[in-house]
Amino acid sequence: MRDTIAEHYENLARDYDGNWAHSAEYVEWMNRLIAEALDLRPGDRVADVGGGTGLFERALLPRISPDTPLLCVDPSQHMLDQVPADPRVRTVCAGAEEVAEGRADLPYGELDAVLVKETIHHVPDVAATVGGLARLLAPGGRLLIISLPPKLDYPLFQAALDRFAERHPEIADIAAAMRSSGLDTRIGQHDFAVEVDREHYIRLVQRHKWMSVLFTFTDEELASGAEEMRSRHPEQTLRFTDRFGFVLGRRPE
Ligand SMILES: C[S@@+](CC[C@H](N)C(=O)[O-])C[C@H]1O[C@@H](n2cnc3c(N)ncnc32)[C@H](O)[C@@H]1O
Repeated sequence: MRDTIAEHYENLARDYDGNWAHSAEYVEWMNRLIAEALDLRPGDRVADVGGGTGLFERALLPRISPDTPLLCVDPSQHMLDQVPADPRVRTVCAGAEEVAEGRADLPYGELDAVLVKETIHHVPDVAATVGGLARLLAPGGRLLIISLPPKLDYPLFQAALDRFAERHPEIADIAAAMRSSGLDTRIGQHDFAVEVDREHYIRLVQRHKWMSVLFTFTDEELASGAEEMRSRHPEQTLRFTDRFGFVLGRRPE
């Protein structure tokens, strides 16, 4: 499974930032929410775990100096290769589990802020990884996990929605793992309204397999999924809501 996921992100890396979901408006909106939630102070030691191409670190960078670079940590070197060169960012090729278990080569013994966005579903044991990340936090440190809920409102074909649901942890379970790791934890939800041309969306599903779950279907299954999407959604413009669970934990001082 790890190899399949690695292969998926290897194929996706070059186009990742140009994905339809990453419209400038969405990226700016999400970046602002992340910066507000993590509330960085100068000198904070920050890691974006599963940070991919670093797209959602941008609003954090004004608070970061090259003396204490932000760590963009990801097991896919292909994703990390897309991170723009910036002296305030250091890439580290490692998985969240390695970070959580203290096996990743990080320049900091503890962290003041950790971001995990749309990545936690890739780890086999969510509670263990959340617990390990929580242990790395300095007093007052924040852990922000952003994840889609298992039940999506996306206009995808049913088998993809079902498989997505099987593979995604409940937001409440992520929060429970944080609480039992000793963090003061709260859950938020942020919604983004999406409008996209139906055929463009179907191309992203069928040809680009832009979500990792789509990579688990054969080309024939995706072709029949595309037909199902057309018959369920005859409208030319698809409108739906992207719902993000924000789970924020803080280590008591
Ligand atoms: C959907 S992308 C999200 C990237 C970035 N956080 C963002 O929101 O743009 C998921 C990322 O998780 C990474 N990933 C896959 N397995 C992982 C693991 N076990 N630990 C950490 N990251 C992982 C992938 O390489 C990919 O970059």
